[in-house]
Amino acid sequence: MLKSFTRVTSGIALAASLVSATAWAGELGVMNGDPANGKKIFTEGKGAAPACMTCHGATGWGTEAMGAPRLNGLGFPYIVKQLTDLAEGRRTPSGPGAVMPLFAQQLTPQDRRDVSAYVNTLPLEPAELSDIDAIKAGGDPVGVRYKGEILVKYGSKAAACVSCHGYNGRGAAPVFPVIGQQKFTYLVNQLHNWRDGSRANDPYGMMRAIAQKLSDQDILDAATYLATAPRTTEGNGHVPVTNR
Ligand code: HEC
Ligand code: HEC
Repeated sequence: MLKSFTRVTSGIALAASLVSATAWAGELGVMNGDPANGKKIFTEGKGAAPACMTCHGATGWGTEAMGAPRLNGLGFPYIVKQLTDLAEGRRTPSGPGAVMPLFAQQLTPQDRRDVSAYVNTLPLEPAELSDIDAIKAGGDPVGVRYKGEILVKYGSKAAACVSCHGYNGRGAAPVFPVIGQQKFTYLVNQLHNWRDGSRANDPYGMMRAIAQKLSDQDILDAATYLATAPRTTEGNGHVPVTNR
């Protein structure tokens, strides 16, 4: 049993069996990256990959317009998993993110651990959250926050997001990523990708099954709530939205 699973609650003990069944199990457990080399990659790039911070931001909080996600606080195992999936053809984004597989391929498996270890050292504060009013003013559709809160916390035709992603989407490492305070545009894009199957690197199709039960409006509503969801957890106001 990997050490990090001791942090996983019994409610998602299933996660342990899912993880051990996947090829990336060996990547999990203790953080085994060199943040110094990771910093070099993040701030200077490597090979054909430009500096990661040009799109993901100097503090890793992502870029709204480009649909580049927040990496800050997503946690070591999840970032390593995504970089590996991107490099090995299991995740093939379209749009501005279509460049990510090529970039991930510039990194050796050790580089991927190094850059993930560096991202893990980035300060969580100050948070750079999506500005929903600005997105709306710019003419892009946004959702209804309270309706999104209902979807996230209580579910509808789809199971409540919190049942896997934790309270307000704060994440349940190593399998269920932080989705609270993730960038609005990125959340909307991913939910569409899960729904149409163009992103299919979720263990056992869990996210595809959920997204197929969401309407366009549900996607906007859930993303609107999640992008600015308070960084608290029920019964404990001090647990940050982070898998770190
Ligand atoms: C040209 C802009 C750009 C650069 C440079 C870039 N990225 Fe990305 N990255 C993106 C976009 C856009 C996405 C979203 C892809 C999608 O829509 O699925 C993304 C997605 C990711 C993801 C998936 C995150 C998640 O939540 O699943 C990781 C991890 C990542 N990038 C890491 C990196 C690293 C490490 C570097 C530097 C080696 C880097 N990126 C450089 C634009 C960029
Ligand atoms: C049955 C468990 C489960 C439920 C319920 C669930 N998810 Fe997920 N979700 C996952 C898993 C597992 C992943 C990670 C997939 C991977 O490894 O690439 C994920 C990933 C995501 C991602 C991509 C995050 C990133 O950084 O790329 C988004 C966005 C997301 N979920 C949104 C939602 C929303 C919104 C809901 C509620 C409507 C929800 N999820 C409900 C299991 C679940």
